[in-house]
This record gives sequence, structure tokens and C-alpha cells, in this order.
Amino acid sequence: MPSAPPCALVLFGASGDLAKRKLLPGMYELAREKLLPEKFALIGFARSEMTDEAFRAEFRTAVEKFARTKPVDQAILKKLESCVYYQQGDYGSPDAHAALTKKLEMCDATHGTANNRLFYLSTPPETFAPVIENLGKHAATLGRRADDPAAAATKPAAGWRRIIIEKPFGTDLASAQALNAQLHKHFRESQVFRIDHYLGKETVQNLMVLRFANSIFEPIWNYKYIDHVQVTVSETLGVGSRGGYYDKSGATRDMVQNHIFQLLALVAMEPPTSLDAVSIRDEKTKVFKSIRPIRADQVDQFTVRGQYSAGEHAGQKSDGYTKEKGVPAESRTETFSAMKLFVDNWRWSGTPFYLRTGKFLSEKVSEIVVRFRSPPLTLFQKQCETAVYPNDLIIRVQPDEGVIWRINGKVPGGQMNIKSVKLDFLYKETFNVEPPEAYERLIFDSMLGDQTLFIRGDEVEAAWAVIDPIEQGWLASKVPPHGYKPGSWGPKAAFDLIEEDGRRWI
Ligand code: BG6
Repeated sequence: MPSAPPCALVLFGASGDLAKRKLLPGMYELAREKLLPEKFALIGFARSEMTDEAFRAEFRTAVEKFARTKPVDQAILKKLESCVYYQQGDYGSPDAHAALTKKLEMCDATHGTANNRLFYLSTPPETFAPVIENLGKHAATLGRRADDPAAAATKPAAGWRRIIIEKPFGTDLASAQALNAQLHKHFRESQVFRIDHYLGKETVQNLMVLRFANSIFEPIWNYKYIDHVQVTVSETLGVGSRGGYYDKSGATRDMVQNHIFQLLALVAMEPPTSLDAVSIRDEKTKVFKSIRPIRADQVDQFTVRGQYSAGEHAGQKSDGYTKEKGVPAESRTETFSAMKLFVDNWRWSGTPFYLRTGKFLSEKVSEIVVRFRSPPLTLFQKQCETAVYPNDLIIRVQPDEGVIWRINGKVPGGQMNIKSVKLDFLYKETFNVEPPEAYERLIFDSMLGDQTLFIRGDEVEAAWAVIDPIEQGWLASKVPPHGYKPGSWGPKAAFDLIEEDGRRWI
């Protein structure tokens, strides 16, 4: 693989948790794999007072602690440290942004970063607006829009400018539209990289390979052969110290609108005409636009929201969600969300998609199950003591990444007994490697300017358009979130949602 072109990466929110756990170690891994450009500089930007030296020490500590591959190669780390800098300032401060511009120019001169700039916003959402406005004002930092005739007349565009934005991208359709409008004042869509880290996961990318590089799936990938699809993204921990942030969001905004919808889109989309970003994102957007809206007055029929009660699980104890730090006692924010959706197009006519996610559940697992219809004739029923199970295709995103087919096989012996057996492809066994961290791939792609694994502006809006009426329905609903015990699989109502249709969670 070619390494990325020379560039300077400005990391806003450099002292944050995501930076320490994922982004800084991710840059080290890219350097180790020789994918980071030879001519590279990293400028951490945050509010805390810190010298370049102190930030380098933080960088080192983060890599030593969280690098995916150990032991850390000291020579690589030392070389990387020599191109790390820090800029202190308020996110909205013009002075801090002016100082940042100077540092970037210094990086061009010292490290040969060629006036290519990647701005990574790993900050709380309320800081997005001031940062974007400041990047816009500091034309020297930002570069002009190539389609701005005034700029084109004065100064030829040199180098590139890209902006990466962490989630949450808005909290509803209106706020996502406002954020898009603000971005588009200063950046063309081709410069904007909206992150959903699920798209950087190896198994999620494998979904496209599975569907479109194998000829056996496409003919049966529709309502005629598929009974329903389930997506489960469950987590074992409660909200812990994130209560303040989480209470404004809830499981649906935090997980469904983005991660789970991306999984759904990759399962449901039509084959793209090519693998480029435009074709793939066109197809995913079409899926969101085809989802049948759940009207506000239908939420109690098609959705279930839950809130964990007091309990202990996975080494964490809680007095219940509404007792968590930063959570109001009367909060109705859901820590569990389940819904039944329909994609109203030719392929998926009448096929339910059941989605569920939650905190403090039994296991940490992200999994898609495609359940096929039962054979048209129940030939074995009379001879068989055991039941004949329908076929499942299980796409395990994490942990134990892989793909499993559940089929029926004959139990050896004189009798005709049938057992559900598994054919599996597990990443670790097949390739003998741990898949890389999602962020490594995403940072690398943004340096290459490849937007395929990032969310487009109209795509994020289409996803919010599905979620908005559900949130509004919940606001108006008289049914409060259902309680569930930490360590369970969510409230009973979530079982009823699927079992009333004669199906069950797998
Ligand atoms: C984040 C959510 O986007 O995804 C968190 O904000 C959640 O609440 C996390 O814990 C889950 O990511 P993963 O990769 O561990 O499944």
C-alpha cells in the first residue's frame, strides 16, 4: 500500500479520552506499518495549558498504554514524537487559531508537510461551530474554496484542506442540517469526512465483500428467501461517568442513528455500480430514504425503550440509570432501544428489520443475523424427533469477528435426526491476525482523500429523518422507558416486540 501524501494533522480535543485511547495510538500504528507519510506533523489543540514537550510526553504515554501492538517500537515512537507539537487555546479564540496558522507554516518549512492540512474535530459537539467558523476566517489556514472565483483570481489553491468530524453529527434533522450548512460555507463536501467508527471495522467492510464478491448471496438476498434481519449491538457496561453527555443523547441517538443504521444500510443496499464513494453512499442513502417512517403515534407499537435499574454486572455496580452522576432523577432517556423497521422497496417488501442496542446488557456483542425462510416443504417432520431450524447467516462484527452459516445436518446413526450445525469463517483462525483498529483505517483514508468509509451530508440527514418522529413520539408517549436488570438482555417488552410476530431474538 502507498503511504499517505505529506500533511499536517491538527487534532482538536488532543487531551480527550478518544485521542488518548484510539487516535494517538492509531497514528503510531500507521507509522509502524509505514502508512503515515514520511513528511508528517501532528499539532494537538486543546484548552489545557501545555508545552510541546508536555504534549509529547502525553503522546508517548498514550501510545505505550493503548498501542494495539506491543512492545512499542521505540525508534518509531521517537521519530514520530519529533514531529508532534501543541497549541493551547479556546476553540473559538481567533488568537489561538492565528497562532495555529503560524505553527502550520512552521511545519511546512520544517517537516515538508506541503501545505496539506487535515483538521480532526474530536471535541464536544458544542465546539464544532466555533472551530469551523475560525477555520473559515483564517483563510491562510483553511485555503479558499476552489469554486470561489475571488480566491481563484488572487491565489492559486495550493495543498489540500480536509476536515474530519467525530459523532454526534447533530441531535436531530434540523441540527444536522444546520451543521451541514455551516460546514458547506467553508468546505466543499469532498473535503468533509464525517466519522462513524463502525465503518472502519474490518468485518463491516467484509459485509460488502461477502455480498458482492460472492455469487451465491445476491439471488437469495431479498424478501422471497429472507424472513427477517436482526441487528444487535449490546454493551456490558452502564453509562459510568458519561451520564451528563449520555442523558442528552440516549441509546437511539448514540448508537442506532449511526452505527446500527450503517450496518442496516450495508445489508439492505442495492449493489453499487462501482466501489467509489459516490456509488456506495448513493446506495446507502437510498436505503434510509426507503425506511417506512414510524409515526409518532406508532412508537409504542414498533419501538421499545428501556432504562436499566439497580444492579451489578461485568464488575460494575449501579443504583440505576436515574441515580447515575449527571442524570436527572426524572430522566426518561433510554439506555436500551429496540425497533422494528421496514425498508419499503422492491427487494425488501414486507421483510422486518429488528434492531436492538443497550448498555448494561448480558454480553458485549455486535452482530447481524440474516434469517432465511424455512424450506417450502417440511419433509423431515414425520421422521424427525428434533426440530428443523431455518438457516441463519450470522455476521459477527465483534468480538470473535467472522461469518457463520447455520445449516441443518444429519446426526450420525440409524435414525433421521437433524441438528443445527455451523460453518464458520473466523478472522483470527483464517488470517492469524487481530483486525486493525477502526480508527487507523479511517485516519489513513482521510489522508488519502478517500471518502468511501465516511458519511455523506445528505446521508446523515436521511438517517435523522427516520429517527426524528420516533424521538418525538417518545416525548409525547405516556409509556415511560421499561426497566431492565443489568446483565439481562433488556426489558420484556423488547422480547414481546419480536415474539408477537412469531420470531425470537437470536
Ligand atoms: C460510541 C458510543 O459511538 O460507540 C458509545 O458513543 C459506545 O456509547 C461505543 O460505547 C461502542 O463502540 P464499540 O466499537 O465498542 O462497539
